[in-house]
Parts: sequence; structure tokens; C-alpha cells
Amino acid sequence: MAGVSEFIRCRGAEALAEEAAGRITAIAQAAIAEHGYCSWALSGGGTPVPTYRRLAESPWRESLDWPRIHVFFADERWVPHDHADSNYLLAWENLLQRVPIPPENIHAVPYLAPAEQAAASYQQHILAFFSPRPVCFDLITLGMGPDGHTASLFPGMDDCGDKLVAAIHDSPKPPPVRITLTYPLLDQAQHRLFLVTADAGKAALLEEIAGPGPQSKPVGKILGTAERPVVWLLDDAAA
Ligand code: 6PG
Repeated sequence: MAGVSEFIRCRGAEALAEEAAGRITAIAQAAIAEHGYCSWALSGGGTPVPTYRRLAESPWRESLDWPRIHVFFADERWVPHDHADSNYLLAWENLLQRVPIPPENIHAVPYLAPAEQAAASYQQHILAFFSPRPVCFDLITLGMGPDGHTASLFPGMDDCGDKLVAAIHDSPKPPPVRITLTYPLLDQAQHRLFLVTADAGKAALLEEIAGPGPQSKPVGKILGTAERPVVWLLDDAAA
């Protein structure tokens, strides 16, 4: 099993979005109360879009103290921010442009060449943001691909050495070049929240993650603990 995990079943995409919005709001409010801000690294993909849109609507929009929320990216495609594949653009269109978050609180991955330069620059930016404290995102929201990838950590391509942010080439999920947070940052975060459409293609993977056996996929390497369980919101209507 991937450490201590909690699995919450939601009946449909809207139910998952509602559950996720409530949990994200509670995590953000607690982080703000505890240390004055919330640092949230979000993912791309299609599953989180209803959640992003729900957070921009009542009651969640008014419940969140947006000037105290800092949005980062768990991964990003190595494309300009106005490119259709950009995770920044996805978050901007579905959430960030719809809420009163200050521009300086949106920490986009810089589009620099080569991609290794973009990764190194983002790593420095993250280290500087948290300095002098160690990097510890209050929340990372993640998805899961049918091959068990998460963020842009893909099977057989997830050894990033001692990098906290890495450039990935030849991604099996297009586009091929990406920037991703690596396991140490995903492990250190206070809350890890997976949003997954538990369709047939992912059911076997979820069985492995929930099971007692060894973990073979990147998602299974995100280990929960009793104090910081990994939480999975599953839209099992698709199952
Ligand atoms: C990305 C995402 C990626 C995504 C999974 C699940 O940049 O592509 O970060 O890791 O979370 O591929 O995608 P879906 O939510 O579309 O199934």
C-alpha cells in the first residue's frame, strides 16, 4: 500500500468537485490561520477543471482569503503560458482569472530554454519563497494517469536524482517536454489530495495502490503517514 491513504468515493464529477472544493477551502483556511498564507501546488489534466471552476463560485469563492493564497504548479508543460497545452492557462481560465488572487501570488513555471533552465529557475524560486524554512507546500493537488504517472513523473522516467524540480523529455503523455516537482517535494507537503476519475482504465491501478503489495507506479511512491495520509477523491461514477 502507498502508506496511509484515505479513499473517498464521489458519485460523479460535480460531486467530486464539491468535495474537493470543500477540502481545499478547509486546508487553505487552516494554513492561513497557522502561518498566514497557504501554498498550493496544483496539477493539470482534465479531472481538476470542475473543481477549479467550483472554487470560483459561491460559497467557496467568498470563503477563501485569496490574497493569502499562493498558487504554484506541481507540473507544467514546456510551452508558452498562452499555449493551449499550458497548465498555467488551464488554471488561469478556469480559476485564477475568476477570483481576486493578486498576480504576484501566481507562481508560474518560467518558460525558459532549455527546459533544464526552466526547472532550475523554478526550483530556486520555490526555495526562495519558503526560505529560511524548508520547502513544505500546504497542499498539492494531483491527478493520476492510466499508466500510474502523477505530476510529470512517469514510470521509468521518475528518477530525478537530487533535483526538487526536474525537466522531463519524451513524456509518453504529450507534449513531450515537461517540468515537474519531484518526489521529495511531493512527499514533504502537508496535504496531498488526488483527484481521480476512477474509470475502468484506472481501476486496477487503484486496487494496487489500496492493496498491501509492493508499489510499482509513481503514484504509489507518494507515501501517506498516519499524521499526513494521502487523500484520494474518486469519481467512481465512471467506474
Ligand atoms: C498534466 C497533469 C497530469 C494529470 C494526469 C491525469 O500536466 O498532464 O499534471 O499528471 O494529472 O495525467 O490527467 P486527467 O485528470 O486528465 O486524467
